[in-house]
This record gives sequence, C-alpha cells and structure tokens, in this order.
Amino acid sequence: MKKVLVTGGAGFIGSHVVEALIRKKYEVAVIDNFSSGRLENISGLPVDLYICDVTDPSVINLVQSIKPDCIIHLAAQISVAKSVADPLADERINVRGSLNVIQAAHQAGASRVVFASSAAVYGEPQDLPVTPEQPAAPESPYGLAKLTVESYLKMFHKFYHLSYSILRFSNVYGPRQDAEGEGGVVSIFADRIRKDTPPMIFGDGNQTRDFIFVRDVASAVVLALEPAESLCVNVSSGAPLSVNQLFSMMKKVSGSPIQPFYGPERDGDIRDSVLSNEAAKTLLHWKPVTSLYDGLGETIGKRQHRKRVAH
Ligand SMILES: NC(=O)c1ccc[n+]([C@@H]2O[C@H](COP(=O)([O-])OP(=O)(O)OC[C@H]3O[C@@H](n4cnc5c(N)ncnc54)[C@H](O)[C@@H]3O)[C@@H](O)[C@H]2O)c1
Repeated sequence: MKKVLVTGGAGFIGSHVVEALIRKKYEVAVIDNFSSGRLENISGLPVDLYICDVTDPSVINLVQSIKPDCIIHLAAQISVAKSVADPLADERINVRGSLNVIQAAHQAGASRVVFASSAAVYGEPQDLPVTPEQPAAPESPYGLAKLTVESYLKMFHKFYHLSYSILRFSNVYGPRQDAEGEGGVVSIFADRIRKDTPPMIFGDGNQTRDFIFVRDVASAVVLALEPAESLCVNVSSGAPLSVNQLFSMMKKVSGSPIQPFYGPERDGDIRDSVLSNEAAKTLLHWKPVTSLYDGLGETIGKRQHRKRVAH
C-alpha cells in the first residue's frame, strides 16, 4: 500500500483529498498547523496526524521519519488580500514553507510532489479559456509565490528527478469551506442563505468565474499521484458562470427568497476567468462529474435550510 503525506490535510480541500485517498486504499499521513484547518474535518479517519508548521525546518526531519512515497502539498495561506497586505508573511509560508516540503520530499526519497497551484498565476487572462500554455503573469504576491514554487518543482525535477504534478485550481467550492474571512464567494452566499441575510455582490455581478466542486478537485489530486510524466494542468469546470447566475442558482437550489445588494467593484478584480481543463482530461483521464445544482445543494445543505424556513 502506498503511503501519501498530505500537508494542509485538515483544511477544506485537504480533508476531501484525505477522504478520497482513504477510499482508494492509500495509507495517509497529514501535516497541519491548524491555522485554518480543523480537527473535526478529519476526525475519525484512519490517518497519522502530525501537528507541525511547514515553515519550521524541523519538518524536513519529520518527513524523513514518515517516509512517504508521495507528497500532496496543500498547506498555504490562501488569501490574495493578505498576500498584498503582508507579502513577507505570504512568502514565508507559501514559498519558504513549500521549499521545505520539496526539499523534504527529495531527502525522504519520495517519488512525486503534487502541488496545489492556482489560477492566480495567470493574472489577467489573454485568451479564454486559459490554457496552461498561456504565459503566467501573476498580479499578486500570492500568484507570484505559487509560480515560484512551480519553478522550484521544475528545478528539483531537473537536478534530482523528483516528479511533480502541478494542478492550477480555479474557484473551488463545497462543504467545509470557511465563509469567514477569505472564504470563497459560494461559501459566503451559502452562509447568508442559511442566515437569511442578503449578501453583497461587488460591481454589477456580471463578472464570470469558473467554479469547481471540491470532490471533483480531490479526485484530480488523487489521479495526479500516478502519471508516468511530470505535468502542469488546470483543474477547473471549464465553464464560465457569472456571480449573478451563481446567486440565482443558489436561490433556486435552496428555495431562499433573499435578494442580493450591490456594492462597488473591488480594485484589481479580474473581470472574466475560465480555465480550460482539456489537459487534465487528457493527461489525468479526469473529468468533473458533479453538476452545479448538486454541488451547490450539498454546500448549502438545502434540506436543513428548507426545514428551518418551514418552522
Ligand atoms: N480554495 C480555492 O478555491 C483554491 C484555489 C486555488 C488554489 N488553492 C490552494 O489549495 C490549497 C488548499 O486550500 P484550501 O482552500 O483548502 O485552504 P484551507 O485554508 O482550508 O487549507 C489550508 C490548510 O493548510 C494548513 N496550513 C496553513 N499554513 C500552514 C503551515 N504553515 N504549516 C502547516 N499547515 C498549514 C491550514 O491549517 C489548513 O488546514 C492551498 O494551497 C491553496 O492555495 C485553493
């Protein structure tokens, strides 16, 4: 049985990845510092849990003692806004922490690192849908950090034959995503629907994004452990959806009567973003299988909402 180490395994995406690995009979170890992850996300699952910060150089010895066959590196600070406000902190966690994990993978003799990169590496898209061949031009420290880690992975491949799978996620949504702070727009809308409070939409709401359900992301991550070659692909739905369309769909799914209100456009927001998932389909033999309707229903917990409204 292959042993897989998941950094950030107690987080939103990480906990779904851990579940998918267990379903596929992998032996699973998790490293997390619980800065945003939660124990309840993985409690009861058969994993070896190590509470450790990936920025601490001792993580290298820890990984050597765990001896994983592969590492899935998800631990990160995930806020673009925080990366702008404090680029040094972002660099420390997202670049230095990642480099510790990559060095650890090399020293521990792991065969591959699967890395959670982001659409943020592209910056303002040149052509839609964005393919992995388009030049990367990040417009935030967060995007730059992700691209830097991608470059380190390519160097470790060149010098040490460490294989990599770089997965550039679009907007991931689903259960367990945090609506507080920097939660994705779906988790914020779901939270407002549950509380019957109108959400604010930035700008006119016609900006488009590419929303992908978290279990579909988890299945791509697991498939990315196995290919013969190193690769870089987008993990996305490939379909644009405007923020207004998203909210209408969430109202339909939940039966909520609330109406949004509109605020000013956010500085630096990209107008339209959709990522091509053709490379992931070809190289990983993966495709997203969850409809938006089902994914949003599961995220909102529609039965709960209907019951509460009825009483
Ligand atoms: N959610 C999205 O839409 C999205 C999109 C693109 C890329 N990503 C990437 O996917 C990965 C997972 O994101 P998520 O949405 O699940 O976020 P999350 O905040 O839920 O998960 C991050 C996990 O990493 C842990 N962590 C953070 N810093 C750490 C550190 N220094 N040492 C050890 N553990 C640490 C947190 O406690 C948490 O469990 C991140 O790398 C993120 O950049 C997410």
